Amino acid sequence: MTIQWFPGHMTKARRQIQEKLKLIDLVIELIDARLPQSSRNPMIDEILQGKPRIVVMNKADLADPEVTKQWIAEFKEQGLTALPLDAATGTGVKDLPVQARLLMKDKIDKQLAKGIKNPRPIRALIVGIPNVGKSTLINRLAGRNIAATGDRPGVTKGQQWIKVGTEMELLDTPGILWPKFEDQNVGYRLAVTGAIKEEILNVEEVAFYAVKYLVQYYWEPFADRFELKEKPEELEEPDQIVAVMEAVGRKRGCLMGGGRVDLEKASRTILRELRAGKMGRYSMEAPY
Ligand code: G4P
Repeated sequence: MTIQWFPGHMTKARRQIQEKLKLIDLVIELIDARLPQSSRNPMIDEILQGKPRIVVMNKADLADPEVTKQWIAEFKEQGLTALPLDAATGTGVKDLPVQARLLMKDKIDKQLAKGIKNPRPIRALIVGIPNVGKSTLINRLAGRNIAATGDRPGVTKGQQWIKVGTEMELLDTPGILWPKFEDQNVGYRLAVTGAIKEEILNVEEVAFYAVKYLVQYYWEPFADRFELKEKPEELEEPDQIVAVMEAVGRKRGCLMGGGRVDLEKASRTILRELRAGKMGRYSMEAPY
């Protein structure tokens, strides 16, 4: 796999986050609920330097609810609070300030014990890989659209705090993390969910990966969507997976001359519908 973030780019991203850590009490680490492993930065513990953290499993509306539950338990075992939510519609978002308060309770209690009557609001920073929903969540928490101009070159803007109720404040520009691409499966999973553009990889290979996974774990909703009759018996037989892709292509009219299936068009259709949740809810990684 040739995809690599330039080391300089990573160092800069990391430095920017660490500068922001000085300003805040709590980190909201945003991950994709369908990919709780691959959508995290593998160096996250090191980068956050022990800051209190809530793991927000965004796009939970698209993920398999049973698998999401297993992940919450897994994170709990690791000593982390994980909160599933859907920033796009706002479901679960109101629990975030509540969880933040719970996590910071000891610190707030200490301030109260010292006679500080009105402890200042909890200051938080959202971090996550591109496309995981950082802007959507910031806008949702702010209750309005915040123009994300801060990280654009040439645009100078001081840090702005966004009030979330009376007890929490959020930095208006999120910390951008990078996923780890060296493992080919991680690259494919990120591409399937739309976290990285499939153009970076080969669209047919990405769709092949998705179809193989759906056949194995979510055959019924997939077959229902495209009225597929025969489940491939041999998953390791590429021809059988390609035959499923062709059946989808025929169903959706992705044809070339001579009635042959346009596999690239079929691949785009599969990925578009999958990402839009048209084949039901799915998770691509389980903790066990
Ligand atoms: P980023 O700042 O982390 O880069 O991500 P951003 O908020 O731009 O969100 C990336 C895409 O994910 C957007 O879709 C957004 O609508 C979608 N999204 C964010 N949160 C959720 C969620 O909880 N559930 C679902 N289903 N989608 C979510 P887009 O196609 O790029 O744009 P648009 O169609 O919303 O215009």
